[in-house]
Amino acid sequence: MYNGEKLNPAQFVADSVREIKAQVGGDTVILGLSGGVDSTVTALLINKAIAERLVCVFVDHGLLRKNEFEDVLEHYRGLGLNVIGVRAADRFFAALKGIDDPELKRKAIGKTFIDVFAEQARSIKDARWLAQGTIWPDIAESHSDKGVIKSHHNVGGLPEDLHFGLVEPLKYLYKYEVREVGKELGLDAHFLGRHPFPGPGLGVRCLGECTPERIHILQEADAIFINALREKGLYDKIWQAAAILLPCRSTGVKDGARTFDNVIALRAVNSVDAVTAEVIDLPFEFLQQVCRDIVAQVDGVGRVVYDICPKPPATIEWE
Ligand code: XMP
Repeated sequence: MYNGEKLNPAQFVADSVREIKAQVGGDTVILGLSGGVDSTVTALLINKAIAERLVCVFVDHGLLRKNEFEDVLEHYRGLGLNVIGVRAADRFFAALKGIDDPELKRKAIGKTFIDVFAEQARSIKDARWLAQGTIWPDIAESHSDKGVIKSHHNVGGLPEDLHFGLVEPLKYLYKYEVREVGKELGLDAHFLGRHPFPGPGLGVRCLGECTPERIHILQEADAIFINALREKGLYDKIWQAAAILLPCRSTGVKDGARTFDNVIALRAVNSVDAVTAEVIDLPFEFLQQVCRDIVAQVDGVGRVVYDICPKPPATIEWE
Protein backbone atom coordinates (compact mmCIF):
# COMPACT_ATOMS: atom_id res chain seq x y z
CA MET A 1 0.00 0.00 0.00
CA TYR A 2 1.09 3.57 -0.76
CA ASN A 3 2.26 5.16 2.51
CA GLY A 4 1.88 8.86 1.78
CA GLU A 5 5.55 9.56 0.98
CA LYS A 6 6.67 10.95 -2.38
CA LEU A 7 5.41 8.56 -4.99
CA ASN A 8 7.82 6.29 -6.82
CA PRO A 9 5.68 5.28 -9.83
CA ALA A 10 7.62 2.11 -10.70
CA GLN A 11 7.50 0.92 -7.10
CA PHE A 12 3.82 1.84 -6.86
CA VAL A 13 3.03 -0.21 -9.97
CA ALA A 14 5.01 -3.22 -8.72
CA ASP A 15 3.40 -3.07 -5.25
CA SER A 16 -0.10 -2.57 -6.66
CA VAL A 17 0.24 -5.49 -9.07
CA ARG A 18 1.31 -7.73 -6.20
CA GLU A 19 -1.51 -6.49 -3.95
CA ILE A 20 -4.17 -6.83 -6.65
CA LYS A 21 -3.10 -10.41 -7.43
CA ALA A 22 -3.23 -11.28 -3.73
CA GLN A 23 -6.58 -9.57 -3.26
CA VAL A 24 -8.54 -11.03 -6.19
CA GLY A 25 -6.91 -14.45 -6.57
CA GLY A 26 -8.33 -16.25 -9.62
CA ASP A 27 -11.58 -14.22 -9.77
CA THR A 28 -12.76 -11.86 -12.46
CA VAL A 29 -12.77 -8.11 -11.82
CA ILE A 30 -15.09 -5.66 -13.51
CA LEU A 31 -14.47 -1.97 -13.91
CA GLY A 32 -16.52 0.92 -15.23
CA LEU A 33 -14.35 2.99 -17.55
CA SER A 34 -15.29 6.65 -17.82
CA GLY A 35 -12.89 7.76 -20.53
CA GLY A 36 -10.92 9.70 -17.92
CA VAL A 37 -7.38 9.28 -16.70
CA ASP A 38 -8.29 7.79 -13.28
CA SER A 39 -10.37 4.86 -14.47
CA THR A 40 -8.03 4.24 -17.39
CA VAL A 41 -4.94 4.08 -15.17
CA THR A 42 -6.86 1.80 -12.79
CA ALA A 43 -7.69 -0.46 -15.73
CA LEU A 44 -4.10 -0.61 -16.97
CA LEU A 45 -2.82 -1.38 -13.48
CA ILE A 46 -5.28 -4.23 -12.96
CA ASN A 47 -4.79 -5.46 -16.51
CA LYS A 48 -1.08 -5.72 -15.75
CA ALA A 49 -1.90 -7.87 -12.74
CA ILE A 50 -4.60 -10.18 -14.09
CA ALA A 51 -4.78 -9.55 -17.88
CA GLU A 52 -8.08 -10.58 -19.49
CA ARG A 53 -9.69 -11.43 -16.14
CA LEU A 54 -10.31 -7.71 -15.96
CA VAL A 55 -13.52 -6.92 -17.85
CA CYS A 56 -14.09 -3.21 -18.46
CA VAL A 57 -17.49 -1.68 -19.15
CA PHE A 58 -17.69 1.68 -20.90
CA VAL A 59 -21.18 3.16 -20.74
CA ASP A 60 -22.37 5.85 -23.14
CA HIS A 61 -24.67 7.80 -20.82
CA GLY A 62 -25.36 10.38 -23.51
CA LEU A 63 -23.48 12.95 -21.41
CA LEU A 64 -20.08 12.42 -22.99
CA ARG A 65 -18.36 15.01 -25.14
CA LYS A 66 -18.72 15.17 -28.92
CA ASN A 67 -17.66 11.81 -30.53
CA GLU A 68 -16.14 10.72 -27.22
CA PHE A 69 -17.75 7.28 -26.97
CA GLU A 70 -16.43 6.05 -30.32
CA ASP A 71 -12.98 7.67 -29.98
CA VAL A 72 -12.31 6.44 -26.47
CA LEU A 73 -13.64 2.93 -27.11
CA GLU A 74 -11.26 2.58 -30.04
CA HIS A 75 -8.38 3.88 -27.90
CA TYR A 76 -9.15 1.40 -25.10
CA ARG A 77 -9.16 -1.50 -27.50
CA GLY A 78 -5.83 -0.26 -28.87
CA LEU A 79 -4.45 -0.43 -25.33
CA GLY A 80 -5.33 -4.12 -25.20
CA LEU A 81 -8.10 -3.74 -22.64
CA ASN A 82 -11.02 -6.15 -22.62
CA VAL A 83 -13.88 -3.61 -23.01
CA ILE A 84 -17.64 -3.90 -23.46
CA GLY A 85 -19.18 -0.69 -24.89
CA VAL A 86 -22.80 -0.11 -23.80
CA ARG A 87 -25.00 2.50 -25.47
CA ALA A 88 -27.53 3.60 -22.85
CA ALA A 89 -28.16 7.31 -23.53
CA ASP A 90 -31.93 6.86 -23.80
CA ARG A 91 -32.13 5.37 -20.30
CA PHE A 92 -30.19 8.24 -18.79
CA PHE A 93 -32.27 10.91 -20.54
CA ALA A 94 -35.43 9.16 -19.36
CA ALA A 95 -34.10 9.17 -15.76
CA LEU A 96 -33.16 12.86 -16.04
CA LYS A 97 -36.47 13.99 -17.47
CA GLY A 98 -37.92 16.95 -15.59
CA ILE A 99 -35.04 17.13 -13.05
CA ASP A 100 -33.11 20.35 -12.62
CA ASP A 101 -31.77 20.09 -9.06
CA PRO A 102 -28.00 19.37 -9.21
CA GLU A 103 -27.92 16.73 -6.49
CA LEU A 104 -31.03 14.96 -7.83
CA LYS A 105 -29.42 14.94 -11.28
CA ARG A 106 -26.24 13.39 -9.91
CA LYS A 107 -28.31 10.80 -8.04
CA ALA A 108 -30.36 9.99 -11.16
CA ILE A 109 -27.21 9.61 -13.23
CA GLY A 110 -25.51 7.55 -10.50
CA LYS A 111 -28.50 5.26 -10.05
CA THR A 112 -28.98 4.68 -13.77
CA PHE A 113 -25.27 4.03 -14.12
CA ILE A 114 -25.44 1.44 -11.38
CA ASP A 115 -28.50 -0.22 -12.98
CA VAL A 116 -26.84 -0.43 -16.40
CA PHE A 117 -23.55 -1.53 -14.92
CA ALA A 118 -25.17 -4.14 -12.65
CA GLU A 119 -26.91 -5.70 -15.65
CA GLN A 120 -23.55 -6.09 -17.35
CA ALA A 121 -21.92 -7.33 -14.16
CA ARG A 122 -24.55 -10.05 -13.67
CA SER A 123 -23.80 -11.34 -17.15
CA ILE A 124 -20.06 -11.72 -16.50
CA LYS A 125 -19.12 -15.12 -15.13
CA ASP A 126 -17.03 -15.30 -11.93
CA ALA A 127 -17.06 -11.53 -11.45
CA ARG A 128 -16.55 -11.00 -7.72
CA TRP A 129 -14.67 -7.74 -7.61
CA LEU A 130 -15.52 -4.23 -8.63
CA ALA A 131 -12.62 -1.92 -9.48
CA GLN A 132 -13.03 1.83 -9.26
CA GLY A 133 -10.82 4.74 -10.26
CA THR A 134 -11.51 6.53 -6.97
CA ILE A 135 -8.77 9.00 -6.04
CA TRP A 136 -8.13 10.81 -2.78
CA PRO A 137 -10.02 14.08 -3.54
CA ASP A 138 -13.15 12.04 -4.44
CA ILE A 139 -13.17 10.54 -0.97
CA ALA A 140 -12.22 13.74 0.81
CA GLU A 141 -14.97 15.78 -0.88
CA SER A 142 -17.67 13.14 -0.54
CA HIS A 143 -17.11 12.77 3.21
CA SER A 144 -16.01 16.21 4.32
CA ASP A 145 -16.49 17.34 7.94
CA LYS A 146 -18.78 20.02 6.58
CA GLY A 147 -21.16 17.49 5.05
CA VAL A 148 -21.55 16.44 1.44
CA ILE A 149 -20.15 19.08 -0.91
CA LYS A 150 -21.08 17.07 -3.98
CA SER A 151 -21.90 13.38 -4.19
CA HIS A 152 -19.28 11.86 -6.47
CA HIS A 153 -20.97 9.12 -8.37
CA ASN A 154 -18.08 6.68 -8.29
CA VAL A 155 -18.27 6.50 -4.47
CA GLY A 156 -21.45 4.56 -4.18
CA GLY A 157 -22.92 1.11 -4.06
CA LEU A 158 -24.02 -1.65 -6.37
CA PRO A 159 -27.05 -3.78 -5.45
CA GLU A 160 -26.37 -5.96 -2.40
CA ASP A 161 -27.04 -9.20 -4.26
CA LEU A 162 -23.89 -8.66 -6.31
CA HIS A 163 -21.66 -8.98 -3.23
CA PHE A 164 -18.67 -7.41 -4.92
CA GLY A 165 -15.50 -6.60 -3.07
CA LEU A 166 -13.89 -3.28 -3.97
CA VAL A 167 -10.55 -2.81 -5.70
CA GLU A 168 -9.45 0.83 -5.58
CA PRO A 169 -5.70 0.94 -6.18
CA LEU A 170 -5.51 4.73 -6.65
CA LYS A 171 -7.56 5.79 -3.66
CA TYR A 172 -4.68 7.46 -1.80
CA LEU A 173 -3.33 9.31 -4.83
CA TYR A 174 -3.76 12.82 -6.11
CA LYS A 175 -4.41 13.44 -9.78
CA TYR A 176 -0.82 14.40 -10.64
CA GLU A 177 0.36 11.15 -9.06
CA VAL A 178 -2.20 9.19 -11.09
CA ARG A 179 -0.70 10.77 -14.21
CA GLU A 180 2.80 9.69 -13.11
CA VAL A 181 1.55 6.13 -12.67
CA GLY A 182 -0.18 6.29 -16.08
CA LYS A 183 3.06 7.38 -17.69
CA GLU A 184 4.87 4.51 -16.00
CA LEU A 185 2.25 2.15 -17.48
CA GLY A 186 2.88 3.51 -20.98
CA LEU A 187 -0.23 5.65 -21.40
CA ASP A 188 0.44 8.13 -24.19
CA ALA A 189 0.87 11.83 -23.51
CA HIS A 190 -2.26 12.83 -25.44
CA PHE A 191 -4.48 10.65 -23.29
CA LEU A 192 -2.64 11.41 -20.05
CA GLY A 193 -2.93 15.11 -20.71
CA ARG A 194 -6.71 14.98 -21.07
CA HIS A 195 -8.41 17.37 -18.74
CA PRO A 196 -10.32 15.79 -15.84
CA PHE A 197 -13.91 15.00 -16.74
CA PRO A 198 -16.50 14.31 -14.05
CA GLY A 199 -18.23 10.93 -13.81
CA PRO A 200 -21.68 12.49 -14.40
CA GLY A 201 -20.19 14.07 -17.52
CA LEU A 202 -21.90 16.98 -19.19
CA GLY A 203 -24.81 16.39 -16.82
CA VAL A 204 -23.11 18.67 -14.28
CA ARG A 205 -22.29 21.25 -16.96
CA CYS A 206 -25.79 21.46 -18.37
CA LEU A 207 -27.56 23.55 -15.75
CA GLY A 208 -31.28 22.92 -15.61
CA GLU A 209 -32.85 19.93 -17.31
CA CYS A 210 -30.58 17.64 -19.35
CA THR A 211 -32.40 16.90 -22.59
CA PRO A 212 -30.75 15.44 -25.70
CA GLU A 213 -31.22 18.81 -27.44
CA ARG A 214 -29.57 20.83 -24.66
CA ILE A 215 -26.70 18.33 -24.34
CA HIS A 216 -26.18 18.55 -28.10
CA ILE A 217 -25.81 22.34 -27.89
CA LEU A 218 -23.31 21.93 -25.06
CA GLN A 219 -21.31 19.27 -26.92
CA GLU A 220 -20.97 21.52 -29.96
CA ALA A 221 -19.93 24.59 -27.94
CA ASP A 222 -17.49 22.54 -25.84
CA ALA A 223 -15.87 21.04 -28.95
CA ILE A 224 -15.30 24.52 -30.43
CA PHE A 225 -13.71 25.78 -27.20
CA ILE A 226 -11.51 22.73 -26.60
CA ASN A 227 -10.37 22.50 -30.25
CA ALA A 228 -9.46 26.20 -30.18
CA LEU A 229 -7.40 25.66 -27.01
CA ARG A 230 -5.59 22.79 -28.71
CA GLU A 231 -4.98 24.77 -31.91
CA LYS A 232 -3.48 27.67 -29.98
CA GLY A 233 -1.25 25.38 -27.89
CA LEU A 234 -3.11 26.34 -24.72
CA TYR A 235 -4.77 23.03 -23.85
CA ASP A 236 -1.74 21.43 -22.20
CA LYS A 237 -1.10 24.50 -20.07
CA ILE A 238 -4.50 24.20 -18.44
CA TRP A 239 -5.71 21.85 -15.70
CA GLN A 240 -9.31 21.84 -16.89
CA ALA A 241 -11.44 23.74 -19.36
CA ALA A 242 -15.09 23.35 -20.19
CA ALA A 243 -18.17 24.93 -21.67
CA ILE A 244 -21.25 25.13 -19.48
CA LEU A 245 -24.83 25.61 -20.66
CA LEU A 246 -26.65 28.02 -18.37
CA PRO A 247 -30.28 27.55 -17.32
CA CYS A 248 -31.44 30.83 -18.82
CA ARG A 249 -31.85 32.54 -22.15
CA SER A 250 -30.86 36.05 -23.11
CA THR A 251 -31.93 38.62 -25.65
CA GLY A 252 -29.87 39.34 -28.74
CA VAL A 253 -30.05 40.40 -32.39
CA LYS A 254 -29.19 38.24 -35.37
CA ASP A 255 -29.69 39.40 -38.97
CA GLY A 256 -31.70 42.35 -37.71
CA ALA A 257 -34.20 40.26 -35.77
CA ARG A 258 -34.59 39.80 -32.02
CA THR A 259 -33.38 36.49 -30.62
CA PHE A 260 -33.88 34.92 -27.22
CA ASP A 261 -31.22 32.23 -27.02
CA ASN A 262 -29.12 30.09 -24.72
CA VAL A 263 -26.05 31.31 -22.86
CA ILE A 264 -22.76 29.42 -22.74
CA ALA A 265 -20.19 30.00 -20.00
CA LEU A 266 -16.56 29.09 -20.59
CA ARG A 267 -14.35 28.01 -17.70
CA ALA A 268 -10.60 27.39 -17.68
CA VAL A 269 -8.68 26.83 -14.45
CA ASN A 270 -5.34 25.71 -13.15
CA SER A 271 -5.01 23.51 -10.10
CA VAL A 272 -2.69 20.99 -8.48
CA ASP A 273 -5.20 18.77 -6.74
CA ALA A 274 -8.64 20.21 -7.63
CA VAL A 275 -9.09 21.28 -4.02
CA THR A 276 -8.34 24.87 -5.00
CA ALA A 277 -8.19 26.34 -8.49
CA GLU A 278 -7.27 29.63 -10.10
CA VAL A 279 -8.82 31.12 -13.20
CA ILE A 280 -6.67 31.26 -16.32
CA ASP A 281 -6.10 34.64 -17.85
CA LEU A 282 -6.88 33.52 -21.41
CA PRO A 283 -6.02 36.09 -24.10
CA PHE A 284 -9.01 38.33 -24.67
CA GLU A 285 -8.76 38.04 -28.47
CA PHE A 286 -8.81 34.27 -28.14
CA LEU A 287 -11.97 34.41 -26.02
CA GLN A 288 -13.61 36.81 -28.48
CA GLN A 289 -12.85 34.45 -31.40
CA VAL A 290 -14.24 31.44 -29.50
CA CYS A 291 -17.35 33.49 -28.74
CA ARG A 292 -17.81 34.44 -32.40
CA ASP A 293 -17.34 30.81 -33.49
CA ILE A 294 -19.80 29.43 -30.93
CA VAL A 295 -22.49 31.99 -31.68
CA ALA A 296 -22.05 31.52 -35.44
CA GLN A 297 -21.84 27.73 -35.48
CA VAL A 298 -24.05 26.50 -32.66
CA ASP A 299 -27.75 26.93 -33.27
CA GLY A 300 -29.58 28.26 -30.24
CA VAL A 301 -26.64 30.05 -28.56
CA GLY A 302 -26.80 33.85 -28.45
CA ARG A 303 -24.31 34.81 -25.75
CA VAL A 304 -20.99 33.58 -24.33
CA VAL A 305 -19.48 34.59 -20.97
CA TYR A 306 -16.17 33.77 -19.25
CA ASP A 307 -16.21 32.54 -15.64
CA ILE A 308 -13.65 34.48 -13.57
CA CYS A 309 -14.32 32.93 -10.16
CA PRO A 310 -11.58 30.87 -8.46
CA LYS A 311 -12.16 27.84 -6.21
CA PRO A 312 -12.99 28.61 -3.47
CA PRO A 313 -15.60 29.96 -3.39
CA ALA A 314 -16.80 28.48 -6.71
CA THR A 315 -16.21 24.80 -7.40
CA ILE A 316 -14.59 23.87 -10.71
CA GLU A 317 -17.79 22.35 -12.07
CA TRP A 318 -20.87 24.55 -11.90
CA GLU A 319 -22.98 21.85 -10.26
P1 XMP B 1 -15.32 20.49 -8.15
O1 XMP B 1 -16.41 20.88 -9.09
O2 XMP B 1 -15.82 19.77 -6.94
O3 XMP B 1 -14.44 19.44 -8.93
O4 XMP B 1 -14.41 21.64 -7.81
C1 XMP B 1 -13.19 18.98 -8.52
C2 XMP B 1 -12.71 18.00 -9.56
O5 XMP B 1 -13.50 16.81 -9.51
C3 XMP B 1 -14.18 16.63 -10.75
N1 XMP B 1 -15.54 16.18 -10.41
C4 XMP B 1 -15.95 14.89 -10.43
N2 XMP B 1 -15.31 13.76 -10.79
N3 XMP B 1 -17.27 12.51 -10.34
C5 XMP B 1 -15.98 12.57 -10.75
O6 XMP B 1 -15.42 11.52 -11.09
C6 XMP B 1 -17.97 13.60 -9.96
O7 XMP B 1 -19.13 13.52 -9.60
C7 XMP B 1 -17.26 14.85 -10.01
N4 XMP B 1 -17.62 16.12 -9.71
C8 XMP B 1 -16.54 16.92 -9.96
C9 XMP B 1 -14.17 17.97 -11.44
O8 XMP B 1 -14.29 17.84 -12.84
C10 XMP B 1 -12.84 18.53 -10.99
O9 XMP B 1 -11.77 18.03 -11.74
